[in-house]
Amino acid sequence: MNPLSPFPLSLVVLISGHGSNLQAILDACQTGDLPARVAAVISNKRDAYGLERARLAKVPAVYHPKPKEQDRREYDAGLADLVAAYQPEWVVLAGWMRLLSNEFLRRFPNRVVNLHPALPGAFPGTEAISRAFEAFQRGEISQTGVMVHLVPDEGVDSGPVLAQVIVPIFSSDTLELLEERVHHVEHQLLVNTLKSLCVQPKRSIL
Ligand code: GAR
Repeated sequence: MNPLSPFPLSLVVLISGHGSNLQAILDACQTGDLPARVAAVISNKRDAYGLERARLAKVPAVYHPKPKEQDRREYDAGLADLVAAYQPEWVVLAGWMRLLSNEFLRRFPNRVVNLHPALPGAFPGTEAISRAFEAFQRGEISQTGVMVHLVPDEGVDSGPVLAQVIVPIFSSDTLELLEERVHHVEHQLLVNTLKSLCVQPKRSIL
């Protein structure tokens, strides 16, 4: 529970896939480690396993696809309405693989948090871990990382960094080993960052 409030803070989590980070959040809410509750999980992909994770945790699981013919900004405005109905304190992008336009972002100023499996400024967009691994194999980098940041605008995986952790890459690594290491780190970093957001007044974060 938030020490400043008798009610846990409410999160809406947006996903597009496997949902292992969502699971870390659900587990931390369940144990009380994270003083929050997941009010809803929304996916733009029907077969995202994260929807099943939400159902198993008895959290509303909403499939909200973007119709091909619909304008991106119109979709985002509708998505914002859907999210707003759950009155979240924080909107968490945990493997949400669509860029959000200002039609969405202006409805939740300084309240959208994104997780990205790379260090600030490095490998924005999709496939960040495999691109980092390829860069390592070319001798360009010796480490990668994970970051959690606010999403103030339409930039790709950019915005004020809330937390970051370096993840080393070893010469014995395969892509699978590196992915495993990165995911392990991001599960912890995301929960810990949300924890600090949930116990601090918003003013002290910005
Ligand atoms: C995570 O690695 C997350 O950092 C990444 O998608 C994966 C989702 O995994 N997000 C991005 O790449 C954002 N650009 P999950 O569905 O198992 O949580």
